Amino acid sequence: MNKLPIAFLFLSLAQVLSAAPTGHWLAKQTLPDGQTRETSLWLKADGDTLTGYMTAPNQDAAALSNGKINGNDISFSIVRDYYGEERKTDYTGTFENDGLTLHMPGFGGRGVRNTSFKQVSTDPPGPMPAPEPKISLPPAADVPSNGLAKTPPMGWNSWNKFARRVSDKVVRETADAMVKNGMKDAGYIYVNIDDAWQGTRDAQGNIRANEKFPDMKALAQYIHGKGLKIGIYSSPGPKTCANYEGSFQHEEQDAKTFASWGIDYIKYDWCSASRVYDYHSMPAAYAKMGEALLHSGRPIVYSLCQYGVLKSEQWGAKVGGNLWRTTGDIRDSWESMSHIGFDQQFDLAPYAGPGHWNDPDMLEIGNGGMTTTEYRTHMSLWSLLAAPLLAGNDLSNASPDIMEILLNKEIIAIDQDPLGKQATRVSKDGDLEVWARPLKGGAYAVGLFNRGASPAKVTARWSDISLHGSARVRDLWKHESLGESTEAFSSDVPSHGVTLVKVQPSR
Ligand code: GLA
Repeated sequence: MNKLPIAFLFLSLAQVLSAAPTGHWLAKQTLPDGQTRETSLWLKADGDTLTGYMTAPNQDAAALSNGKINGNDISFSIVRDYYGEERKTDYTGTFENDGLTLHMPGFGGRGVRNTSFKQVSTDPPGPMPAPEPKISLPPAADVPSNGLAKTPPMGWNSWNKFARRVSDKVVRETADAMVKNGMKDAGYIYVNIDDAWQGTRDAQGNIRANEKFPDMKALAQYIHGKGLKIGIYSSPGPKTCANYEGSFQHEEQDAKTFASWGIDYIKYDWCSASRVYDYHSMPAAYAKMGEALLHSGRPIVYSLCQYGVLKSEQWGAKVGGNLWRTTGDIRDSWESMSHIGFDQQFDLAPYAGPGHWNDPDMLEIGNGGMTTTEYRTHMSLWSLLAAPLLAGNDLSNASPDIMEILLNKEIIAIDQDPLGKQATRVSKDGDLEVWARPLKGGAYAVGLFNRGASPAKVTARWSDISLHGSARVRDLWKHESLGESTEAFSSDVPSHGVTLVKVQPSR
């Protein structure tokens, strides 16, 4: 036999072997600061059946179910206990060259992500590692109110646009922009740094910022010097969602550090806490930081971020929270925003009020994934919902259209109404929805929404909002009084659009 075919035979054998699923497959993601996140698949192929387990950051090992091999393709599901609810995730993957590409749900629910795995061993999997032992905290006593956030917090947060790229420079430029473009005067006061500011702890356990933030205290002074306030981010777990240092077992120390830097707001994000705490301990874990903030020596707004699990609206205020997330992460799309805003908030109104707010997540206005009409709907709905108005775009480069939406003072006044009553959905007819909230002084804010694909006439009936007789109607986007209406008000609303009006009963 000549040498060439033999070489081919070995080559193709090597390819077949390297594509054999059995073994340990590893995906390593290196973060900008050099940290790595590892997801592992331990697989065993048996004919066309695939078994094994997966380990991923912030999760216990989980067994594959329904695993199948079809040529170079695989598919399997993983069923996890998601805070008391069974949640099934489906995965598909393809072996190509010497790797495995797995299509898996993105970080924080952001679409589907393709993750590349390399085979690091061909040994069949051993027994699946047992779940890490969890801490059970006793129920905590109610944390007294800090007296802050009498109206929903307004400001900016770095995550939606800058994610891990947030830096001292970005924060300063944002603050400068907020002063210049009128946002500060319109009430957007908090400049909030989200995840990815943290460095390591010093020998005494004090948290330090990473190299992107050379001097947090100086940054806070800069922000305060502009007449603004500054927010920061941490986690009750050992690591944050982006795998930076969390506050686990350093709660009081971190609260004091934040206070010493001059921090005015903290977003406290669950993530890896699920590795260390049994999830029933979530309220007590949040109460720990709630207490720590009260004793930090500085008034600090407390924002709970735990994706709305375990009915946070029912205990968020008791653990000292001024706001609590009611859903998973928002994305810059009509589907995400409208699903969160319309479908996931309608029964939460009883829990909102001065000092304690439902948080349907930060604004995506201006990030480019929705039309101007859709962004107007976003702003209108969030204001009706008495939601925090935290812009999430690049304010140094925002277009006039976008600024006009964020700076609509008549709509901001709805969000900030001192009565603090969150809107309810008062009627729904297919894609057409009317939402209304009572305002101080007897008026109502009424949103006539069209979620459908074509323009439609939407009608708000006074009887649906407990109004009788005639009322003066003012269009808050057109800034125009529309005269008096008796019994009802109708408007032609574009697809995905809104007509937002203030309705004042005539006396
Ligand atoms: C979670 C939160 C987001 C953001 C990221 C940061 O996904 O829900 O709002 O804070 O973590 O890692």
